[in-house]
Amino acid sequence: MEKLLVERSGPLRGTVEADGAKNAALPIMAACLLTEEESLLDGVPRVTDVEIMLNILRVLGVECFWDGDTLVIRPGSYTGWTAPYDLAGRMRASVCVLGPLLAKQGRARVPLPGGCVIGPRPIDLHLKGLQALGAEIAMDHGDIVAKAERLCGNTVHLAGQFGSSVLATANVMMVATLAEGTTVIEHAACEPEVMDVANCLIAMGAKITGQGTSVMRIEGVGRLRGTRHRIIPDRIEAGTLLMAVAMLGGDVLVRGARLDHLHAVVDKLVEARVSIEPQDGGMRVRSTRDLKGVEVTTLPFPGFPTDLQAPMTALMSISHGVSLMTEKIYPERFMHVPELKRMGAQISREGPSAIVKGVERLSGAPVNASDLRASAALVLAGLVADNRTEVFGVEHLDRGYAHLEHKLVSLGARLTRERSS
Ligand code: EPU
Repeated sequence: MEKLLVERSGPLRGTVEADGAKNAALPIMAACLLTEEESLLDGVPRVTDVEIMLNILRVLGVECFWDGDTLVIRPGSYTGWTAPYDLAGRMRASVCVLGPLLAKQGRARVPLPGGCVIGPRPIDLHLKGLQALGAEIAMDHGDIVAKAERLCGNTVHLAGQFGSSVLATANVMMVATLAEGTTVIEHAACEPEVMDVANCLIAMGAKITGQGTSVMRIEGVGRLRGTRHRIIPDRIEAGTLLMAVAMLGGDVLVRGARLDHLHAVVDKLVEARVSIEPQDGGMRVRSTRDLKGVEVTTLPFPGFPTDLQAPMTALMSISHGVSLMTEKIYPERFMHVPELKRMGAQISREGPSAIVKGVERLSGAPVNASDLRASAALVLAGLVADNRTEVFGVEHLDRGYAHLEHKLVSLGARLTRERSS
């Protein structure tokens, strides 16, 4: 087990670059199962979740390896159709192999995702979509077992209680590429990661229109081919870096940060008195640490992303006045709040909202990261807190941020990693 030792730091100066988006890379790696031909993926981040997906592909019989920074995926005539629990159970995103396996092998067995620290995460929309295209679905020993003799296009409405679903849209879209006839996905997720999956599929020969809008149309084709694709930059990592500079002060160019992916975040940071402008293929962020409280509601894209809720809550905890954070995607995603409170943050919960009264100073403490984005929030809080903060649960950070601590250190932040007993 490892922990991060975080010291009060800042201001940050220099240039950093966002890695490729984990949440685009994972379904795109799964999409490679739709063809027997080789695909080359550039910009795949070296994070634990990607390693888990690679191992799942290998168990299915797919040859995968890194050639420098390029991920090579060679499905060949793989025959596997079962994602094993010891791997798939570690990562909810493994559900996105369900669609490609069903489409290519006619059957798929994937463990039903278990409980999750960020709250309930049902998969009814995935199953509804696949059934609409002709899959028969059963539950067996904790696994989803999907079968289909023939997959046919259909109109699928993918709205859930909390809006559209990113991975359900990806799953249904992937099946539809090889289904007979036309599929229309209504209430499709518009997230940039879904668009990236669609663009990769199009490069593989799929016929898709409407990606990035709430209605997508997919005409099935007989087969897909391999491709070379560059994953889009990680808007969540880029947003986390913008917030780090906002909180610590300084002047940093975040390369790869795209305004079209981060409008809602940039709007809120500007409202909080941070200066942000597009520059040199990224965004230049400047801050004097004189932050003003704001009200934020997380929503599906183009709204403020739930994956930046925790870091933004850390930022609010040192902003002047009262801020309000309302979580509309995962109303229970507040595990970081008690930890921030241990550092002196003044936060009260009311249902899906956190009311944050800004304090002058946070104070360092040992804290436990419960999930990926909570870990980033605690690192940022530690960098503005007096005394040393020890962040435990670093394995969560490693699931989705490639080199976050090295990037922060390169800008002048003071943090190191140590084995914890
Ligand atoms: N939902 C349903 N039924 C479903 C699927 C989802 O009700 O069948 C609900 C969820 O419970 C949630 C909402 O719909 O309230 C949106 O969930 P979504 O399905 O969009 O989430 P996901 O596709 O499982 C991806 C990201 C998450 C990110 C969400 C929302 C990946 C690998 N994961 O999950 O990323 O929070 O979209 O944007 O793409 C993270 O990176 O830390 C992370 C959790």
